[in-house]
Amino acid sequence: MTTEPATIVILGASGDLTRRLLFPALHRILAEDLLSPNTRLVGFAIEDWTTEAFLDHLYQGVEQFCGGIDAAAWAAIAANTYYVSGDLDVEHLGRLRELVTGPALFYLALPPPLFGQAATALGEVGFADQSSGWRRLVIEKPFGTDTASAVALQAQLRIHWAEDQLLRIDHFLGKDTVQNMLVFRLANRFIESVWNVNNIVQVQITAAETLGLEGRWRYYDGAGALRDMLQNHLMQLFALTAMEPPSVWSADVLREHKVEVLRSVRVIRPEDVEMSAIRGQYGAGEIEGKTVVAYNEEENIPPSSTTETFAAIKLVVDNWRWLGVPFYLRSGKRMSGSLTEIALELRPAPSRMFGSERAVSNWIVLRLRPDETIEIQAVAKKAGLGMTTEQVMLSTTDEAAGGPEYSAYEQLLIDAVNGDCSLFIRGDEATEAWRIVQPILDRWSSDGQIPRYASGADGPPPPAGFFDEGRSWRAVGP
Ligand code: BG6
Repeated sequence: MTTEPATIVILGASGDLTRRLLFPALHRILAEDLLSPNTRLVGFAIEDWTTEAFLDHLYQGVEQFCGGIDAAAWAAIAANTYYVSGDLDVEHLGRLRELVTGPALFYLALPPPLFGQAATALGEVGFADQSSGWRRLVIEKPFGTDTASAVALQAQLRIHWAEDQLLRIDHFLGKDTVQNMLVFRLANRFIESVWNVNNIVQVQITAAETLGLEGRWRYYDGAGALRDMLQNHLMQLFALTAMEPPSVWSADVLREHKVEVLRSVRVIRPEDVEMSAIRGQYGAGEIEGKTVVAYNEEENIPPSSTTETFAAIKLVVDNWRWLGVPFYLRSGKRMSGSLTEIALELRPAPSRMFGSERAVSNWIVLRLRPDETIEIQAVAKKAGLGMTTEQVMLSTTDEAAGGPEYSAYEQLLIDAVNGDCSLFIRGDEATEAWRIVQPILDRWSSDGQIPRYASGADGPPPPAGFFDEGRSWRAVGP
């Protein structure tokens, strides 16, 4: 089903996001008839380009990142794309008036410190006014750098834009397994009925990367793993895993449930930070057989940098469903493998009946990377004579055979044009997530030391008491 014709204006359109992700995604959804071929696409940036030069720049990106060009989709792009150059001020943005007449989406592909300024300038030009069609504003994480800046950004966005005009992207929510997790959990009674403290003993949410800094020093050294990954992507996975089941698929209900569970996370007291959070910075080491340098020897990183490239936190959820079940969130760069997963450990069954001395626990694993798979580990009888058991895996891979490979942006762009906010973050969700990590940010910022871990290892060891006895991190590498 295609969308209604609208205008998509990308501010900061000369940058990498537009060429590498947004236009390839627009091209894919045009090729599949999911976006109206009459969608007007307007690029706005400081570079003094012509529309032809902009299109040439995009063509190469689409070819490279889509693995080829769909003639009809490209014809629609070429016929409907415009480029306007200028600064982010009322005078220059005013030049977009002629191109933006009906419903329109404004996508800020800009450095986050410019979000407030751009949103205000667009509002002053009158672009938030919906009398000639809907108007929406899209921004992408990070939404602030701590609680105070997130609250200030929210206030600035709301000067001209209503909350339901604001679409905050966390690209993890556009991933198929994340949506599949909701279906798997909420459409199967046997799963939802074990999803609580009576049956789950711990939850581990991991986003491990073998990648290092990849030239992103300008942004990353001021951010670190807690701000870059935990406060947003992992906190979203946590909220979706831990929230109460909504009974209707509605953006408001879903987001209300997520905010509620974020609010029920117990505040980490300053004196508990050491026991509840781990940070580290990668040193030199080996990744996939290649020697790599330490973080503080990467180009443009000061040797004295204490930015964390690994962060882990333990959350206590103070509600009836989860009290007593620790939630562990961890993310790191230059780890031993590339793995993103949500893993829930079930309480073990009594095991002596089958001759096993040690109780074996089962895991439910929802994996986003390297493959999109849901697995349930179970114990079954080993085939053959005798009563011995083995671990078996019940699994389903979420992959459309032979279908196109999507980045998360196709779904998010379609939803943004259709006005479906379910997979976008509400302002209060972002600020609640900052509230949870703020005591850790405060503590770490006042400490000039950072533990190191070798590249290819999986972060510094956890402090005593971080895990319950007999438990540890799940393996990351192969
Ligand atoms: C981004 C972070 O938001 O997410 C990166 O800024 C990280 O540091 C990336 O590498 C991970 O996303 P994905 O989709 O590749 O798992």
